[in-house]
Amino acid sequence: MYSGTRNAVASSFMPYPDESPKHSPEPVLEELLEQARHAAQHSYSPYSGFRVGAALRLTNGNTVTGTNVENVSYGLTICAERAALVQAVSRFGPDIRIEAVAVANLNAAASPPCGACRQVLAEFILPDAAVIFLAEGGVRVMPFSELLPLAFDTKLK
Ligand code: THU
Repeated sequence: MYSGTRNAVASSFMPYPDESPKHSPEPVLEELLEQARHAAQHSYSPYSGFRVGAALRLTNGNTVTGTNVENVSYGLTICAERAALVQAVSRFGPDIRIEAVAVANLNAAASPPCGACRQVLAEFILPDAAVIFLAEGGVRVMPFSELLPLAFDTKLK
């Protein structure tokens, strides 16, 4: 059952002194990016041709991946990040916490998580979680709180 542990919604951004932030070392993030790349091979993207994969490293030690699944009505398309998140909750339940995210694509393009995915990730991600994604000229790593400093949150103070 959901037990209300800290996530990245705006009301949870104050650091808790008893919880040290979890910084994944670089090789771990590279490995996560590789898993995201692998997931992108399953992409169903006949309309855009843009093949995206996401990998979520959970605090329970598991990694869950997802890919984008498009739809002829376009707007019903599910992004890779949200596909991975839904998979993570379905497998491990609502208490999961995400400590790192990787987003890759097979199109040699930049692919930071879109705004909708950031809002959805905020529900389950630690504010200090590293997010690694492709950018022009290489990869970028940013803490989630910099990608989405003020998520929608009905408990915002
Ligand atoms: N897409 C993702 O999977 N993640 C994002 O963060 C943004 C975009 C997908 C949706 C669509 O299938 C394709 O990329 C082109 O927008």
